[in-house]
Amino acid sequence: MAKMEIALDLGTSYTSIFVSGNGIVLHEPSVIAYFDDGAKRRTRAVGTEAYNMMGRAPEKTKTVCPITDGIIKDCDACADMLSEFIGRILPESYLIKPRISCILGVPTGITVEGREQYEQVLMRAGIDEITMVNSVMLSAIGVDMPVKSNFGGIIVSIGAGSTEIAVLSLSGIVRGWALTLGGDMIDRALMDAISGIYGLNIGRAAARALKEKICSLIRNDCAATTVSGIDAETKNIRSQSVSSDTLYGVVADYYLNIVDAVASVINACSPSIAAEIQRYGIVVVGGGAKMPGLAMLMKNMLKLNVHVPPDAAYAAVLGGGRLLSDPDFLDDILSHA
Ligand SMILES: Nc1ncnc2c1ncn2[C@@H]1O[C@H](COP(=O)(O)OP(=O)(O)OP(=O)(O)O)[C@@H](O)[C@H]1O
Ligand SMILES: [Mg+2]
Repeated sequence: MAKMEIALDLGTSYTSIFVSGNGIVLHEPSVIAYFDDGAKRRTRAVGTEAYNMMGRAPEKTKTVCPITDGIIKDCDACADMLSEFIGRILPESYLIKPRISCILGVPTGITVEGREQYEQVLMRAGIDEITMVNSVMLSAIGVDMPVKSNFGGIIVSIGAGSTEIAVLSLSGIVRGWALTLGGDMIDRALMDAISGIYGLNIGRAAARALKEKICSLIRNDCAATTVSGIDAETKNIRSQSVSSDTLYGVVADYYLNIVDAVASVINACSPSIAAEIQRYGIVVVGGGAKMPGLAMLMKNMLKLNVHVPPDAAYAAVLGGGRLLSDPDFLDDILSHA
């Protein structure tokens, strides 16, 4: 039977799939839209198409984000969404569906029940064999950190639902930390801020677009854009010009919490590891690493070099892809997990 090897990053905001021999073939929002008339429910759209329906779908169309804070919250919706994504990456024609084996990135501190949940969802989506690897470890491998050496580095992964920090050594994690803090929380804080400052209610997608377009961790940044929403008093649609500087405090609050957590992790390390961190600095990955000014902010606060690699947002799935082509490396990582 034909075999297909994939790496999967099932993130709160994005699902990414790497196919052995082809690279990253799918990077889509983790969203599914159902047509639901009360009697029956069927999939209407997934990924970008479903994301674009959020907050504007007709009454019988319901959009679902099956993953929240880095954890599967709706197993049925997650399996339906993933099965559509898997359908997209299968060869155009086949007599018998290829057997799919998968390296899956999983969060730090995942429980036995959490593993079982992933397994059930992936099986229902048509994946036959699953190997779970810590997703921060995958990210470190994806951006070529020397994870096998006696100091593999310190990595911070800032996603939509969670932020993970890990100190790596000898193919394992010496110290790991996970925070339920990520881009989604910043988006919600931006919605509150726009409502509080301008009396304008904006949607989740608008808040996220605003953040990605103009927000930064650079004081007095004059980047500006226009957002549209519903006026809280008149209930009319209204547009408002918003500048990065106005939102600086909202965004900086969240990133400063992350910097504090990194400082705590470093302070809890042995003097020899702390000295290595001082020497090699920190690597920051995940979509949240793209916030302008982050490297400078971290550098100033922690007095360390900070590196944001160009592939920061795809680090985990690239790491999974790397392990697909190196089974010895995979065995080494699994034996130190
Ligand atoms: N330029 C940008 N500035 C700030 N944040 C950004 C930028 N671009 C993307 N992001 C944010 O990055 C987050 C997505 O990152 P990523 O794909 O790493 O998360 P995820 O893997 O889906 O989530 P998680 O790992 O928490 O489950 C979103 O919150 C998105 O808004
Ligand atoms: Mg992620």
